[in-house]
Amino acid sequence: MAVSRKISEFMEQGSWIRKMFEDGIVLKQQFGEENVFDLSLGNPVMEPPQEFFDALSDIAKEPIKGMHRYMPNAGLETTRAAVAQELCSETGLDFDTEDILMTVGAGGALNVIMKTLLDPDDEVVIFSPYFVEYFFYADNHGAKCSVVPCDDRFIPDLKVLASLITPKTRMVLTSSPNNPSGIVYDSQLLSTIGEVIKSKEQEYGSEIFLVSDEPYRKILFDGMEYPHIYRFHPRSIVATSHSKDLALPGERIGFIAVNPNCDDKNELVDGLTFCNRTLGFVNAPALMQHLVARLQSVTIDVSKYQAQRDFLYDALTAIGYNVVKPGGAFYMFPKAPIENDVVFVDELRKHKVLVVPGSGFGMQGYFRVSYCVTDATLAGAIDGFRDAFDTFT
Ligand SMILES: Cc1ncc(COP(=O)(O)O)c(C=O)c1O
Repeated sequence: MAVSRKISEFMEQGSWIRKMFEDGIVLKQQFGEENVFDLSLGNPVMEPPQEFFDALSDIAKEPIKGMHRYMPNAGLETTRAAVAQELCSETGLDFDTEDILMTVGAGGALNVIMKTLLDPDDEVVIFSPYFVEYFFYADNHGAKCSVVPCDDRFIPDLKVLASLITPKTRMVLTSSPNNPSGIVYDSQLLSTIGEVIKSKEQEYGSEIFLVSDEPYRKILFDGMEYPHIYRFHPRSIVATSHSKDLALPGERIGFIAVNPNCDDKNELVDGLTFCNRTLGFVNAPALMQHLVARLQSVTIDVSKYQAQRDFLYDALTAIGYNVVKPGGAFYMFPKAPIENDVVFVDELRKHKVLVVPGSGFGMQGYFRVSYCVTDATLAGAIDGFRDAFDTFT
């Protein structure tokens, strides 16, 4: 066997999205691209904003001397300063260049944070429904995840959070707006999470970090303000990227922001910088760092995603699906009309609609719809959603 037993098992557990992607290729060959409605991937079809192309063209016309060389492992001073400045205006906190570390996407950021914080056998608490990669990322650093369940509005059960935090817990990892539910955790919820962490730190005499994975933080609907985690726990760190808010997932550019009020901040940032280097990232892509420094106040057209959310929510609820209306991101997580989400997703596939079973996110009986697709793909899927629903009701 070419791969280890563990990786072979992981590949099996983490294969839902890949499986739907592969099914999509086969179906598209069979029935034609325009007759298959692939809502399985979080890969935006939206192009980056015009400002991105303008900045790219400016830099190509007037390259900065040495811009493609190695740089400090934390990233370019100018880019980190631009990110810090944007965070100051967003949060009212006093971010400094030293609080920011440029990374290879949010995925790279999470791995750098975990590598820096976790010893073997440490524990990471995550919330259901979750982004499945968290399990694999924690394992990369010898740690294990435990999962806080949620209610039918995807609000976590914080009594269970308290019971899952043990002396080995080093990190509580939230993700909001959430993939797959699109739910945004409000200030009240985050504040209670902060209080639970503080009381457990006192009980165990430990230090627990609140880490927020937030690549969708700027994709918020209905004029909602984003509740930043920094004020809910001093030991807080954000992992994020421009994969979604600038529609640049293939360019692998993101950053880590450390709470300016975190104790031992300098040691922490030194550790993060060391791990960014030694995980082999070395530094985040140089060209992208030059570009995003100029684009910190720019975001893709969020109103487009809000219109798509409204269209899909109205269509699915009119059919009879039970759906919690998302406050952000570009996912919806409806309840399947039968308990077995895998069987229901299979039925949808027969109607040429591809989505991902909730089991892939730790919640059976649900399925994830990604609506970062063209209007035609979204509209074309509705008949299939209706026919599959009618099969079971
Ligand atoms: C919740 C969540 N975290 C992290 C990531 C990874 O993002 P990136 O492409 O910036 O590495 C994704 C990507 O879909 C995601 O949905």
